[in-house]
Amino acid sequence: MSANGLAQQLQNTHISSNDQDWKKSLALPTRDTRPQTEDVTATKGNDFEDYFLKRELLMGIFEAGFEKPSPIQEESIPIALAGRDILARAKNGTGKTAAFIIPALEKVNLTKSRIQTLILVPTRELALQTSQVCRNLGKHMGVQVMVTTGGTTLKDDILRLGQTVHILVATPGRVLDLAGKGVADLSDCTMLIMDEADKLLSPEFQPIIEQLIAFCKPGRQILLYSATFPMIVKSFKDKYLNKPYEINLMDELTLRGVTQYYAYVEERQKVHCLNTLFSKLQINQSIIFCNSTSRVELLAKKITELGYSCFYIHAKMLQSHRNRVFHDFRNGKTRHLVCSDLLTRGIDIQAVNVVIDFDFPKNAETYLHRIGRSGRFGHLGLAINLITYEDRFNLYRIEQELGTEIAPIPPVIDKSLYVAP
Ligand SMILES: *[C@@H]1O[C@H](CO)[C@@H](O)[C@H](O)[C@H]1NC(C)=O
Ligand SMILES: *[C@@H]1O[C@H](CO)[C@@H](O)[C@H](O)[C@H]1NC(C)=O
Repeated sequence: MSANGLAQQLQNTHISSNDQDWKKSLALPTRDTRPQTEDVTATKGNDFEDYFLKRELLMGIFEAGFEKPSPIQEESIPIALAGRDILARAKNGTGKTAAFIIPALEKVNLTKSRIQTLILVPTRELALQTSQVCRNLGKHMGVQVMVTTGGTTLKDDILRLGQTVHILVATPGRVLDLAGKGVADLSDCTMLIMDEADKLLSPEFQPIIEQLIAFCKPGRQILLYSATFPMIVKSFKDKYLNKPYEINLMDELTLRGVTQYYAYVEERQKVHCLNTLFSKLQINQSIIFCNSTSRVELLAKKITELGYSCFYIHAKMLQSHRNRVFHDFRNGKTRHLVCSDLLTRGIDIQAVNVVIDFDFPKNAETYLHRIGRSGRFGHLGLAINLITYEDRFNLYRIEQELGTEIAPIPPVIDKSLYVAP
């Protein structure tokens, strides 16, 4: 093989050499209206019907393509409906928006023509997107949703507020302006939702938020969603939230220290590509993920045939058997472990320096659990994703949702990125 062996091998399988372009050219529908993949919802197995929502709301939910609640929705919806404050740590793209909009829509009293829910977001784009989700899910309810952000004329907003508004989606500065003028009456606002709260509570916004809270009805419910919990969020919580129910779906997993690449391949080239990776990379131990039990077994067989030592585990094996295999792998009895997603929580084996998605996952949460490491260890690693034509949307979406970069695999991978000195 030539000097650039690995890249050459993989390059042969690239459809386009201009990866940035093909990724950018993918036009995606709005995130929250797309059907959820089943692995987003695999945690408790709840159904939207379980929450006794209004029929018109359920219709909107199903029409928007939602099938089952995602983990953040399963955690949030019943608690929010019960009236408790919530402090939730969840990334974008996990169904977070609907996790607060569904209870807001359920609780709104349409016979009252007052603002009952205020949804605060840090940017205009997010305000527009959030209000759109609200309108979609509530479209059979006759709910009045208004969005107000800076950069539009105040006069239009004032006129609009002369009519009924049940749910107001806003950036903080503008709504404070309207509330201060007595145009937006928040005295019946019983639910205050803050999305991207870490940004909303930055010093620039915090005084505005505090004034807005004072305009809301005393004892209002506060739902706070944030990807990170800096100190500023904690002190706000202590001051304003009443025994909040805390949700953390991030498991402290982080992609810090993990260099992520993808290789664009065809399905039938995957094993060949894996073989190339094995021969070119300096793997101490690796975990290789497949999307089904049968593919796990098949791939483990292929890897063994290629002459590499390899164990496998999957969901259909007895727990005791799985534990033994995992224990042996941890003790270094074999170099490679092929598995399905069953053990993706809490893998933290120091000796594993390469994780390979033989089959690319369909959602960000699964990706994070496969590739992410517990922040406490902070060791370096490499993640390599084999991407087929069918995976291209998911790659783009997961990258966006996790705010991370998955780069095309380079000709030479710098050892300092994943090999301990
Ligand atoms: C698993 O991946 C293979 C190959 O990409 C694909 O054909 C199959 O439909 C996938 N199965 C599931 C359950 O996603
Ligand atoms: C490599 O793996 C072995 C076990 O398989 C482990 O004992 C060793 O510490 C690992 N090396 C590094 C640098 O992690």
